[in-house]
Amino acid sequence: MSIEQKTPVSKIAPATGKLGVMVVGLGAVATTLIAGVEAVRRGLAKPIGSLTQMGTIRLGKRTDNNTPLIREFVPLADLKDVVFTGWDIFEDNVYESAAHAKVLDKDLIEQLKPYLETIKPLPAVFDQYYVKRLSGTNVKKGKSKRDLADQVRADIRAFKKTVDRVVVLWAASTEIFLKQTAVHKSIEAFEKGLNNDDIAIAPSQIYAYAALSEGVPFANGAPNLTVDFPAMVELSKRNAAPICGRDFKTGQTFMKTVLAPALKARMLGVSGWFSTNILGNRDGEVLDDPQSFKTKEESKLGSLDYIFQPELYPDLYKDIYHKIRINYYPPRGDDKEAWDNIDIFGWLGYPMQIKVNFLCRDSILAAPIALDLVLFMDLAKRTPELRSIGVQEWLSFYLKSPQTVDGLNPEHDLFIQSMKLKNTLRHIMGQELITHLGLEYYD
Ligand SMILES: NC(=O)c1ccc[n+]([C@@H]2O[C@H](COP(=O)([O-])OP(=O)(O)OC[C@H]3O[C@@H](n4cnc5c(N)ncnc54)[C@H](O)[C@@H]3O)[C@@H](O)[C@H]2O)c1
Repeated sequence: MSIEQKTPVSKIAPATGKLGVMVVGLGAVATTLIAGVEAVRRGLAKPIGSLTQMGTIRLGKRTDNNTPLIREFVPLADLKDVVFTGWDIFEDNVYESAAHAKVLDKDLIEQLKPYLETIKPLPAVFDQYYVKRLSGTNVKKGKSKRDLADQVRADIRAFKKTVDRVVVLWAASTEIFLKQTAVHKSIEAFEKGLNNDDIAIAPSQIYAYAALSEGVPFANGAPNLTVDFPAMVELSKRNAAPICGRDFKTGQTFMKTVLAPALKARMLGVSGWFSTNILGNRDGEVLDDPQSFKTKEESKLGSLDYIFQPELYPDLYKDIYHKIRINYYPPRGDDKEAWDNIDIFGWLGYPMQIKVNFLCRDSILAAPIALDLVLFMDLAKRTPELRSIGVQEWLSFYLKSPQTVDGLNPEHDLFIQSMKLKNTLRHIMGQELITHLGLEYYD
């Protein structure tokens, strides 16, 4: 397959040397990511679900037959150069934590044991006020939130000495629902808040502040308020440290953002969408707390409203009853089950129903998303055109509640998101964008 070299819009630095990935929260998602990457590196399994590893990108006309692998088209870090570390409130190393999470087969974890055991969590910034259902002992002590942020910055700096580039990913538990306050409005206000231990500053924000202050990209895989406020956007731009969030788009919302655009494309009405889940992992236990659930609920609720645009189509979508339930049910572990009942109506208002029953594995869906996010965030940091814009909206493909620049509605439709991502790659590599107009074939 030939990749016709055009001139990239800007000089993208090559992905030479080691990419250090610091994961906040070494739980189910993180250990499935880390063990999975190692399994792929050893040739024990394939990186299924990862666009960066398996995806291709069409260049030029359909008739050009030029469809390279994405990882050969853009300069991404090679998996062999990825080095992991992270923070957690529990002292378990990644082998112990993976065994506890019970996502991967025991056999696979045993084969990878010598490697997984070497990754031990750094002490975390944690306060039970923000995650009610957890308590752990591997926790930093500090005089103030400012002091804790300085300790995380020191962790990042120490790790930076051992690798060439660093990305931070939040894969820790969902914090309680927080709204923006005055402290989030500017860098100065936020820094004052750190000194004064402002209650509106959650641990996730302390990690993000530390990463961005060190010029390190930060991706938020959970729904908590972490990088989506003016102080972080300002800091991200100032230090050329890309940000994106929030909440990995894995099971139910992934399906929703495929089905809803299809119904809308055909102008079929929707009167109700009832979504329920059972899951029994630690994430489920944390989400059993009403305040953490509220954070998740808000993140899951948004997508339908944005996709259906009821203000434009009142006859079809004005009165949708949208309800989401998450039930902690220990016997299922990480093997979540999601049901959707969708009440739709067609020609002349005649009602119909769609039932979706997705028996998924939460972390098996999340791990490749986490991998792609860190590799693409590293690419963004090396791309002059992207690194100082703040929010990386082109990565909304991976996120349930995508962050955008202030005042801009997010795109939730998975296929628009996919096109946006691929066109961003074409754009930064100086290739023509693909609009799917296709009239040139009929000239
Ligand atoms: N699994 C999925 O499909 C999926 C999808 C979307 C979002 N998420 C989100 O990703 C996050 C991780 O999910 P999971 O299934 O791995 O959960 P998990 O409970 O297995 O892991 C989370 C880990 O974070 C640790 N932690 C909590 N607060 C911390 C802090 N302040 N600092 C450091 N570590 C901390 C916990 O001790 C735990 O080990 C959750 O917020 C979840 O809602 C998961």
